[in-house]
Amino acid sequence: MSALPTALAALEQRLLARRARWLVTGSAGFIGSHLVEKLLGLGQTVVGLDNFATGHRRNIDEVQALLAPEQWQLHRFIEADICDPDACREACIGVDFVLHQAALGSVPRSLANPQATNAANIDGFLNMLVAARDAGVRRFVYAASSSTYGDHQALPKVEDTIGRPLSPYAVTKLVNELYAEVFARCYAFPSIGLRYFNVFGARQDPQGAYAAVIPRWTRALLLGEPVTINGDGETSRDFCFVDNAVQANLLAATSDEPAALNQVYNVAVDDRTTLNRLFEILRDALADVRPDVRQVQAAYGEFRAGDVRHSQADIGKARRLLGYLPSHALQAGVQAAMPWYVSRFAVTGGDA
Ligand SMILES: NC(=O)c1ccc[n+]([C@@H]2O[C@H](COP(=O)([O-])OP(=O)(O)OC[C@H]3O[C@@H](n4cnc5c(N)ncnc54)[C@H](O)[C@@H]3O)[C@@H](O)[C@H]2O)c1
Repeated sequence: MSALPTALAALEQRLLARRARWLVTGSAGFIGSHLVEKLLGLGQTVVGLDNFATGHRRNIDEVQALLAPEQWQLHRFIEADICDPDACREACIGVDFVLHQAALGSVPRSLANPQATNAANIDGFLNMLVAARDAGVRRFVYAASSSTYGDHQALPKVEDTIGRPLSPYAVTKLVNELYAEVFARCYAFPSIGLRYFNVFGARQDPQGAYAAVIPRWTRALLLGEPVTINGDGETSRDFCFVDNAVQANLLAATSDEPAALNQVYNVAVDDRTTLNRLFEILRDALADVRPDVRQVQAAYGEFRAGDVRHSQADIGKARRLLGYLPSHALQAGVQAAMPWYVSRFAVTGGDA
């Protein structure tokens, strides 16, 4: 699973031969910063937009440090809020492809403050959709979410069968899909939604009350802090390494297959790992460089409100229509991501 998938390899050659202009919203965040890094590495012109609500300037600086100066020259950053329609309009000028990632993530955050999540994820989304439509953008690819499956129990999850939302966050991501569908119908505006499943990798924020499980536990293990598993640890997820999400974005933006347009796609691996097993995988990966973590045991806490019990994606639709083929399964992704966390905490003493 680690060689470059064929469709992506061909696409990279096409992009290297021809420069387009991309707008990445949420570019100071985790997934957005990886999109910027990849696109600039392929010689593309990239406008990044972020208001640093949950993203960090250090992510942008890190991308700059990874690139050659001539690649970085093709980057422009706009500090702005997508709740500002003028900022969205300005950012879309001359843009070929929008990769819309900006949103307030996290189910617990949305339970604590549904209005803030609604403002960024619905008002902001609509502003971006209108701005992209008015600017004549060729395609609008947006971050949808596996949370849209809600209380639907069957596994694996197939795109056209969803349940009822279990959180305000899930409502916002479902509304994004409805707006995109209506913009296709009413204005013939082309978009593709990518339902990410538990994406992880370098630069995913390990701190704060709403940190995702992989960075949170990794940080705790490295700093000798306790790791708490919510519930009995048998909750399971389809953990998706960030390179797979980047691949899906590039394929979705550039696909010339008419049937692929105005659709939503699962972006994951089609595998399922329990939290108990995830803890072992992280501990083993870190034990190679930090033998002291080998003996660490996790504690167990309450189940978390709004969480679905099991999640696993059917990725057949993305495979068929986009040529998506995940390059990394969970363990390969963890191996690729851990050095970043190890160096981060070694350098900062834990203030990453
Ligand atoms: N990481 C995952 O597992 C996952 C799963 C499903 C969906 N998603 C979606 O993918 C997208 C990216 O998530 P991420 O994990 O990179 O999170 P992230 O928090 O690292 O990135 C989101 C970025 O959006 C920015 N942002 C938020 N509100 C904004 C606003 N009003 N104006 C401008 N910028 C704003 C933040 O500052 C941040 O940099 C989000 O839409 C998220 O809902 C992520």
